[in-house]
Amino acid sequence: MRKKIVAGNWKMNTLLAEGITLAQELNTFMSGYETDAKVVIGVPFTHISQCIDAVDEKNVLISAQNCSEHDSGAYTGEVSVQMIKSLGLKYVIVGHSERREYFGDTDGLVGIKVIKCLENGISPIVCCGETLEERESGNHFDIIKTQLLKACIGVQRTSILDVIIAYEPIWAIGTGKTASPEQAQEIHAYIREIISEIYSVEIASEISILYGGSVKPNNAKELFSQNDIDGGLVGGASLKAEDFIQIIKAI
Ligand code: PGA
Repeated sequence: MRKKIVAGNWKMNTLLAEGITLAQELNTFMSGYETDAKVVIGVPFTHISQCIDAVDEKNVLISAQNCSEHDSGAYTGEVSVQMIKSLGLKYVIVGHSERREYFGDTDGLVGIKVIKCLENGISPIVCCGETLEERESGNHFDIIKTQLLKACIGVQRTSILDVIIAYEPIWAIGTGKTASPEQAQEIHAYIREIISEIYSVEIASEISILYGGSVKPNNAKELFSQNDIDGGLVGGASLKAEDFIQIIKAI
């Protein structure tokens, strides 16, 4: 059985007090709610410790949104995977399209970060996805394949199932334009095909693949009911407890 996951990505939003309140609200809801799905929130580094205190890990798990590719040293402003691990976290979002676009995270760098996470017992939530231009020119399959091949370089069969993949078409992120359930399903099935080519059909059928890009309370159910969609990576709608709770209920 594949793990179902609803993950929030708060990005660079919320001041500390707001973040704590949001985490507490989710924790309260989850403490009275039964689901097989894991609920994860990707919070800013500054909020991690207090968000850990605000939730029970049986209910809500905390993720970082990025990590350094280096172990330690003179890298002003960076945060290593070891530091993240020392807080007790189990998840880091890696290769989000905003990191790729604004901070120079290349496919190669994403691959290094994935390895660092796995070496430290952390599950990377690895993002991939195409721009509108790439989709319109029909290149999206190749783009996604290259992103995934590079993200998986050096990842052994024994640890690939610790990786969570998130398909996030860039044209659907923060735009209110969601991929249709059919469009999302087509790419999720394709991602499983790539994983089966690199690893095996069994591994491909067990790896969790999330959809991200304008997931909202009104479209989550249809997206999540697709065969190869195992949950969501939710940006804007994860900032309102009420909306995120509706999305959790949709899984
Ligand atoms: P969105 O963001 O839900 O606001 O489109 C998704 C993401 O960037 O992970």
